[in-house]
Amino acid sequence: MSTPIDPTTTTAWARLTELKGREIDLRSAFADDPGRAERLTHTAADLHVDLSKNLVDGDILAALVDLAEQVGLTERRDAMFAGEKINVTEDRAVLHTALRAPADADIEVDGENVVPLVHAELAKVYAFAEKVRSGEWRGVTGKPIEIVVNIGIGGSDLGPVMVYEALQPYVQAGLTARFISNIDPTDVAEKTKGLDPETTLFIVASKTFTTLETLTNARLCRAWLLDGLRGAGAIDDSEDEASEAIARHFVAVSTALDKVAEFGIDPANAFGFWDWVGGRYSVGSAIGTVLAVTIGPENFGDFLAGMHAIDRHFVEADLAENVPALMGLLNVWYVDFHGAGSHAVLPYAQYLHRFPAYLQQMTMESNGKSVRYDGSPVTTDTGEVFWGEPGTNGQHAFYQLIHQGTRLIPADFIAVATPANPLTDGDSDVHELFLANFFAQTAALAFGKTADEVRAEGTAEEIVPARVFPGNRPTTSIMAPALTPSVVGQLIALYEHITFTQGVVWGIDSFDQWGVELGKQLAKQVTPAVAGDEAALAEQDASTQSLVRYYLSHRAR
Ligand code: F6P
Repeated sequence: MSTPIDPTTTTAWARLTELKGREIDLRSAFADDPGRAERLTHTAADLHVDLSKNLVDGDILAALVDLAEQVGLTERRDAMFAGEKINVTEDRAVLHTALRAPADADIEVDGENVVPLVHAELAKVYAFAEKVRSGEWRGVTGKPIEIVVNIGIGGSDLGPVMVYEALQPYVQAGLTARFISNIDPTDVAEKTKGLDPETTLFIVASKTFTTLETLTNARLCRAWLLDGLRGAGAIDDSEDEASEAIARHFVAVSTALDKVAEFGIDPANAFGFWDWVGGRYSVGSAIGTVLAVTIGPENFGDFLAGMHAIDRHFVEADLAENVPALMGLLNVWYVDFHGAGSHAVLPYAQYLHRFPAYLQQMTMESNGKSVRYDGSPVTTDTGEVFWGEPGTNGQHAFYQLIHQGTRLIPADFIAVATPANPLTDGDSDVHELFLANFFAQTAALAFGKTADEVRAEGTAEEIVPARVFPGNRPTTSIMAPALTPSVVGQLIALYEHITFTQGVVWGIDSFDQWGVELGKQLAKQVTPAVAGDEAALAEQDASTQSLVRYYLSHRAR
């Protein structure tokens, strides 16, 4: 196993340490340099990305690019795209980029070109999607499918639900998706409410097909389906009719097709992917089947093409103009040189309301690590908390803290030029009112309002301090022409490569997730205690015992 380069030993790091003391005042930076916005705005596919309101100057950006070179970002990137097993703790290649590669590409894992496999599986998914969309695929009583319910969690849920919400205008009329993820039985209870089993199709999406939540929910949904069909007299109690109903109403997506068969789903109704696709990077694989069904193969193809366009940009653009690399390096700048512990992502597009939640898994499961890929401790802070809500809702909730709080919170603002729903309020174009907020917020954060400006408004002296905005709060503005399938794919790939860049600088394996294991193991151990087994309860720590006893004595039966 190779050893990661310790970023803190590089000359670039030493230079950045010197430069962090340099005051960047965004007001004067803009006033003194009329070319700043243009120079620091870059294009990646359809994304127009303005980095000019970040706390950098030419020297800092040059040192960040040097840092990328000195830690071997381009070499690691090329190794990832070439199918090398850079996920060392799981001994796996990392090839979500192969999911969106053109059919004539050659990307090998263990000597086999995986691109034909990808395209063959996509063709299967598309053929299935077309059958559901056209009504050719029928439920067991002969009715066409109206509702598709995706059962999955983590990467097998967050990507599909986020994209489904983002691309609502592309969803075929008469088809709806619902998403069940949580093992809280409320999720199944609420999401199956009002559904007709005869027109409902379940997609059980699980990379491993061992995930407790997903398999439990799949069993609950299977029971719901069979009870519903039997209750309506649509099928009898025989095994044969149950199997036939499951075959018409359940399909699966997994890398473990043997386990799919054990669950009772016909492998002919299963779509595969591969261990070189991480769960949180899997929305472009068959995990997106619910999307291929609802938005259609053509739109799903555009979505993949958008991702691929950003992959090409990440591979081809010079580091000094490489948007994902620069955004990742800026994040390192804020985390390691400015002590930022979190990063806000603020989409000014209601359809992107699940984007921050999706990014939380992508970024925090990837870079929330304290050891490097060779097992040695990290040498710097890593993984900031990603969070956010759509504007303008966030403005009326937490922006106060970003504007005037004591913490530095870098923020990404995302907006599109053409609204999906162009509405007017009298003479006002409402999308323009919305965008005015998007433009105003980054200006307010960057340039603030001085005490003199507050006084000039006639504010009483004792209130002046409360009304001062310090400014110099860094933001990146990302704009695109419209929220198309391609643009949504571009945004996803952009953040994938930002996350990768940060991971490379920190020397960590961004593609494992061992940190989720311990809680799963302990949940298994504590389950008998929760069911009232005294011996199992006695093995728990005192706090857990007391909490479980509270549960046992307060549960209404
Ligand atoms: O909780 C960890 C995790 O492994 C995620 O990385 C993954 O996306 C999720 O669980 C679901 O896993 P699966 O698709 O195997 O059910």
